[in-house]
Amino acid sequence: MTWLSSFWRSSIGGKVTMAVTGVLLFGFVVAHLLGNLQLLKGPDAINSYAKMLHDLGPLLWVMRIGLLVVFLLHVVTAIRLSRANKAARPVAYAKEATMQASLASRSMVLSGLSLLAFIVYHLLHFTFGITNPDHMARKAAGAGGHDVYSMVTASFANPAIATAYAAFQLVLFLHLNHGLQSFAQTIGFHHGRYTPMIKQLSFLLAALVAGGNVCLALSVQLGIVKGAA
Ligand code: HEM
Repeated sequence: MTWLSSFWRSSIGGKVTMAVTGVLLFGFVVAHLLGNLQLLKGPDAINSYAKMLHDLGPLLWVMRIGLLVVFLLHVVTAIRLSRANKAARPVAYAKEATMQASLASRSMVLSGLSLLAFIVYHLLHFTFGITNPDHMARKAAGAGGHDVYSMVTASFANPAIATAYAAFQLVLFLHLNHGLQSFAQTIGFHHGRYTPMIKQLSFLLAALVAGGNVCLALSVQLGIVKGAA
């Protein structure tokens, strides 16, 4: 364990931890979006998907705890690296590139903290049913468990909630766009020839994920997805 903790404490170990945990969290966000897109197919599709997840029983808890550990590792390592960067910073920047890198990492800390606030709100909303207990109260007919379709459509029918979710997707986009580029750099893709391609690919993936989430909120607001009776 000592070598593991000294690796984590090293600068390269911190970067590798950020890359590995970041890509796992990206995988979760993509999988979560693909599951949530079942909303567009109607109540049966999304409620059966939610039931399938809940039927995993203890395995679901292993996955949830795994996700929490990965998430905490990502946040704690980000804080450690950001502190180390600040401590090592010269009084004035010698090069513009150094200043740009510092601005980018500072904006990652800011967007990361905003996402943390969103996730806390999101869990209070959909997982613990504290912000809108009325949305959680319905049970799915036949499928058992929560009526996720009603829960999500009732929530996104509220313009304030739909706008809050859509606004946070902009922050998610910024964080993913830069995070995916950093990931590519950490695993060694920083050849001049590939950089523009990596930038475009990161932009596209981040836009697809954030845009997909916005579509969910928008589809309810525009009446394309109708609330359950
Ligand atoms: C329009 C977009 C989204 C919708 C409709 C949505 C919907 C939901 C629902 C219904 C749940 C509760 C699952 C359950 O306990 O049965 C949930 C849980 C969760 N969501 Fe989202 N979500 C969205 C976006 C996001 C985003 C962008 C993130 C992360 C950045 C996220 C992270 C989570 C996490 C961590 C959980 C807890 C997982 C668990 O309890 O197993 N969600 N979401």
